[in-house]
Amino acid sequence: MASPMRSLVEDDERYFRSFQVFLQRSSEHQCMQDFVHGTLTDILASVGDGKAELNVIGVGSGAGKIDLEMFSQLRQKHPSITVDNTVVEPSSQQILNYKVLVSKTPGLDYIKFTWNKATASEFEQHWKESKMDKKADFIHMIQMLYYVKDPVATISFFQSLLHKTGKLLIILVSGTSGWGKLWRTYRSQLCNADISQSVTMADIKSQLDSKAVGYRSYELPSQMDISECFVEGSEEGGLLLDFLTEMMDFGRTAPAELKAGVLALLRHRDCSVETQGKVIFNNNLEALVLDPLP
Ligand SMILES: C[S@@+](CC[C@H](N)C(=O)[O-])C[C@H]1O[C@@H](n2cnc3c(N)ncnc32)[C@H](O)[C@@H]1O
Repeated sequence: MASPMRSLVEDDERYFRSFQVFLQRSSEHQCMQDFVHGTLTDILASVGDGKAELNVIGVGSGAGKIDLEMFSQLRQKHPSITVDNTVVEPSSQQILNYKVLVSKTPGLDYIKFTWNKATASEFEQHWKESKMDKKADFIHMIQMLYYVKDPVATISFFQSLLHKTGKLLIILVSGTSGWGKLWRTYRSQLCNADISQSVTMADIKSQLDSKAVGYRSYELPSQMDISECFVEGSEEGGLLLDFLTEMMDFGRTAPAELKAGVLALLRHRDCSVETQGKVIFNNNLEALVLDPLP
């Protein structure tokens, strides 16, 4: 009989391993890099208001790979700036990985890093308690709003920290991605009710629209090879399945009927295309850029 299912977010180490497999099997970071080197460059050019030091806040930065890509573009557009970079990241492992990446990357002397081992809400509470009034020129939250209780409240708080020419960048899965279909179908069985795990950018946009909050949006086409999920006993397939379902050891702990249903949906045309013997999942992302609150 299957044992009770546990959420993947309860196990930092397994979450990190499955996230690594996800990154290897998907074009997730490639499509973000394309966006950073394309559209985002002009957006970064517009921040800063001519100041010599720019304040940046990264929320849920992970191992910092995309953060450093954004810094290189920011620096290209503002060659003489220094950066005060505040990292908000609850995972010690990810902070360590980010620090290692920084130590291995030459030419980052213009950035001062302040590491906060904290969730977005802990950071918010600390900020309010210490009555901080520092304004930020650029804030990003990339693929992290799934892990907060109230994404739109989190957006409003960070938006309130923006300097008058500042920008807030949010990236999440698109409502038309395979993730959207998977979560709409299996939300009650798979999603952790304490957080907003099943949120897509379509949900965020409709909530922002209802509050008349403006934004610009950009589609980031992306895909993920999930073929290994269908190979019984495959370790990598198991980790990828964990990342897709956000359940720990889903392949072994899920009730048979749920596992069969999820596997069938994952390869269904609503989520994936089958090509050259591979199952390619729709991992499309969407980016939103917000200005400061009026
Ligand atoms: C899917 S990863 C994305 C990492 C990175 N931004 C990227 O795109 O590669 C999600 C990140 O959010 C972090 N995280 C989880 N819960 C969080 C919370 N409540 N507040 C802030 N970050 C959180 C995780 O530790 C993880 O590093």
